[in-house]
This record gives sequence, C-alpha cells and structure tokens, in this order.
Amino acid sequence: MIEFKNVSMKYKTNGAVALDNVSVKIDDGEFVFIVGASGAGKSSFLNVIMGQEKVDSGIVRVGPYNLASIRRRALPYLRRMLGIVFQDFRLIPKMTVYDNVAFALRVIGMGDKKITKRVRYVLKLVDLTDKANDYPHQLSQGERQRVAIARALVNNPAVIIADEPTGNLDPILSNDIMSLFDKINALGATVVVVTHDLELVHQFNHRIVTIENGRVVSDIPSKYKSEDISLRFTAEKNEAEADEDAAQAEETEEQDNG
Ligand SMILES: Nc1ncnc2c1ncn2[C@@H]1O[C@H](COP(=O)(O)OP(=O)(O)O)[C@@H](O)[C@H]1O
Ligand SMILES: [Mg+2]
Repeated sequence: MIEFKNVSMKYKTNGAVALDNVSVKIDDGEFVFIVGASGAGKSSFLNVIMGQEKVDSGIVRVGPYNLASIRRRALPYLRRMLGIVFQDFRLIPKMTVYDNVAFALRVIGMGDKKITKRVRYVLKLVDLTDKANDYPHQLSQGERQRVAIARALVNNPAVIIADEPTGNLDPILSNDIMSLFDKINALGATVVVVTHDLELVHQFNHRIVTIENGRVVSDIPSKYKSEDISLRFTAEKNEAEADEDAAQAEETEEQDNG
C-alpha cells in the first residue's frame, strides 16, 4: 500500500512547490493513472515514492516503510519493492537485451540458474524472447520500452511505477505498452503510471488522479475493481441487458402511443 497524508514538498534549490497538501491512498493491486500538465508535480510524486526526495510535512508510507523516518540503509530494500520505467528507457547500450534485464539480478547476487529462469520468464511476458541477444540500438522504440519494462519486472516487485512511459511512442505503440501494464496489473502488481496523454488514459478503465500545481484536484475511481474481472463482465452484461430493456420499453411506448 502507498499512502500520502497531507504531504507537502518544496525543492530546496529554487523553492519550487512540487506537492501541496497531497493525500492519496493506493491499495495493493490497484492501477492508477496520475495525470496533469507539465510541471504539475507528477514526477515529484513518484520521486517521493522512490525515496529520492524527502517531504517537508505530512506522512508517506510505501509498503512497510515510513519514508519520513526511513534509514539510508533501508533505501535499497524500498527500491527492491519498486520496478521503475522511464520515458527514455535508460537501457545500457553496450549490453544485450538479456544482459540489460539480468543486470539488476546480478547486482543483488542472485545465482545464474535463477537469473536465467527469471529473465526468460519476463522476456516472454513482454514478447521479446526472440530479441534476447540483440542490442538496444537494433530495436524499435516500442521494443526498447518493453525491455525496460522487463527489467523493471524481473525482480518481481510489488509495485511498478512508470513516468511518462509512452512519451516517446506513437499512439498505437502507446496503447500496446499500456496494455502490457494492464497485463502486469492482472498478474498482481500495483501499477502507478504518470502520463499527460488523456486520450490514452480514457482507453482504459482505471482510477485517474489529477494533479494541478502540486495539488490533487480530482480522483476518479475505476468503474470496476480491477482484480474482479468476473464482476466486470457481469456488470457489462447487466449494462447491455439494461440497454436492451430500455430499447424494448421505448418500443412498447411507441406502440402504445401509436
Ligand atoms: N530537481 C528539481 N529541482 C528544482 N525544482 C524542480 C525539480 N524537479 C521539478 N521541479 C519543479 O517542481 C515542480 C513540479 O515538477 P515535476 O514534478 O517535474 O512536474 P511534472 O512531472 O508534472 O511535469 C515544477 O515547478 C518544477 O519546475
Ligand atoms: Mg514529469
């Protein structure tokens, strides 16, 4: 669970107010879009979650950690809970796709056998099994972002955080990438995606938190709880039936009148 309670944050260097009394609670397994204009405070919100910026006031909880009192020693453990995806992919050019993904696991000292298994699994998940031995420059933009997503997933983090992950992609690829986050969410991860692409956001049925000048100005819940797909189908079916009933009622009324 991620919780912000009356959180305010200013950058020390220039006094810019990035977050102004923000309260947001994100439950485990949720998918949340954070939207807002450039400079609204979206990246700052993520920076706080990642433990990269300390807040001036309020409470921030990420999983078991209280970020106001988190020790420097605990930061690597906080970051292990998080898989992070950036707009500009941030792949290592001299490493193959496989090594870009395996790298994070080597750093934490995982054994080779386990690494191979995990890397194969996530490359399959993002549909890049065939590209394992390619280098980033040999890939399309969309494929590069899928490598970055595989890397974010490889350590099986509880939360995936993405800052404008489709900022460098055309609309069709953007939709593919967002669908991939959908799939990851369905597998159980909490997903927080920052974007200013409202058109894209409205193609999905997820909670939308809007930030303006560092403040949360709206928080629209997902229509259906993402974890309950069967409920979603039932609800859609009921809606369809209700539409049919309404149409029939209209017809009957017309006949009655006519
Ligand atoms: N590293 C930084 N140092 C100083 N000010 C910053 C820094 N990063 C962002 N800001 C300022 O904080 C505010 C929020 O920025 P940001 O969180 O990056 O917005 P967004 O991601 O929504 O575009 C802006 O006024 C921005 O200029
Ligand atoms: Mg930003």
